[in-house]
Amino acid sequence: MRSFSIIVFFTSALVICACASNLAAESSEIIDDDVIAAMMERHCVSCHAANPSDPIYQYPAGGLSLETLDGVRNFAWEIRLQTVDSDLMPLGNTTGMTDSERKTLGAWLDQQDE
Ligand code: HEC
Repeated sequence: MRSFSIIVFFTSALVICACASNLAAESSEIIDDDVIAAMMERHCVSCHAANPSDPIYQYPAGGLSLETLDGVRNFAWEIRLQTVDSDLMPLGNTTGMTDSERKTLGAWLDQQDE
């Protein structure tokens, strides 16, 4: 039973890798760092900063500061989950982040792995 689970795990990992590399091959466009910095500034930094401008928060929401691209890279996996693969973030989406911006963010995160 245990070895069966391991086989299932590796098979799914292979499928996921295959899909991911397909996607990367489709979008050959390189996303500029400035685009992502501006996107974070517009949609995330009001809550995810050392001193958030949103008066509700006295500290970075969820413990993430997205003021620098290294901050974004540190939370790549969580950001992909909450902002690219779902629309949980930005919270309430009051700034109107679009699907196309989410795709751009996903493509940039892919580039960081290379
Ligand atoms: C209106 C405020 C607000 C905005 C804007 C916002 N967030 Fe958040 N975010 C939060 C709060 C609050 C939490 C903590 C939720 C919790 O702990 O349950 C959080 C949590 C997160 C987490 C989860 C951290 C973890 O521990 O897994 C990620 C990732 C995240 N935000 C990414 C983003 C990104 C990327 C953006 C911009 C596209 C964004 N957020 C915009 C308020 C915000």
